[in-house]
Amino acid sequence: MTDWSGYGTPGRGEPNASIPEIGDRRPETGDRRPETGDRIANDSRELYCRSHIKTTEAMRVGIVGSGNVGQALGCGFAARGHNVMLGSRTPRSAKIMAWIEETKETDGETTAGTFRAATQFGEVVVIATLWAGTENAIELAGPDNFSGKLVIDVTNPMDFSLGMPPFLTHGNSDSGAEQIQRWLPRARIVKAFNFVNSADMVDPEYRGGVPDMFVCGNDKKARNRVADICRDFGWERVTDIGDLKGARHLEALANFWVHLAHVRGSGVRQAFSLLTRSGQE
Ligand SMILES: NC(=O)c1ccc[n+]([C@@H]2O[C@H](COP(=O)([O-])OP(=O)(O)OC[C@H]3O[C@@H](n4cnc5c(N)ncnc54)[C@H](OP(=O)(O)O)[C@@H]3O)[C@@H](O)[C@H]2O)c1
Repeated sequence: MTDWSGYGTPGRGEPNASIPEIGDRRPETGDRRPETGDRIANDSRELYCRSHIKTTEAMRVGIVGSGNVGQALGCGFAARGHNVMLGSRTPRSAKIMAWIEETKETDGETTAGTFRAATQFGEVVVIATLWAGTENAIELAGPDNFSGKLVIDVTNPMDFSLGMPPFLTHGNSDSGAEQIQRWLPRARIVKAFNFVNSADMVDPEYRGGVPDMFVCGNDKKARNRVADICRDFGWERVTDIGDLKGARHLEALANFWVHLAHVRGSGVRQAFSLLTRSGQE
């Protein structure tokens, strides 16, 4: 049975046999991308933590949300030398202690704290909460603690209460990301990663190659920084789709992605590639 709440279970269409074997987490030299990565098994998902060539300076990353997405992205940041604090209402829970143990070999330090502590800690903050809890999480974090910061929004405003497929609580003329921007008017919100499975957000590996990543946000410099982070995470083609209104499309794409997984019965280990006619840019 597919775990739709967290989109976290590999689907039938993506057999585990395609997952790389456990390898050496650290490259022998600092300037070479390793061929294989560490697989960290954690209940229904695998997190990939690899050392990488990185273009972004080491920074402090606060993550609001300690679920599948928070843990996967936190692991990706820590593997690239960034110090990460995972934020949760229960930062001492066994699940979070296990994540800290699993990530202790990464180049960056990993810790956990409350939503408020993680947000205060981060120069960059990731919002990775269940949509229904997002406003509460921001309140607990303290909206002022986001001021002036780059905030990567990975949420999807999906409501599963009427069954599958879910519906978007914001759409067409609004989006969850725009709602978050209204809650946090002094933060620089950038939407990214929301239409791929958490286990594939870092070091994406698919049968057809590396799919596309799209980013949007109202601040061009913030979008560029997130595009650099995406490339560091292995997304070779990152397309800047402009201001935050673009999130209406990226969240609809996420809804389509869940719908596809549902109708195809293929699970969520799928992603999108934008193909252009030969001869065109
Ligand atoms: N899973 C995926 O593959 C995937 C992919 C793309 C986008 N997304 C989106 O990313 C977001 C996170 O997904 P996930 O799978 O990581 O979710 P998850 O595992 O269910 O984690 C949810 C997080 O939200 C927090 N939360 C839940 N209810 C809350 C409430 N009432 N108040 C405050 N915080 C609350 C939890 O905080 P505590 O730590 O305090 O319990 C938890 O850390 C969702 O919006 C989802 O749509 C998920």
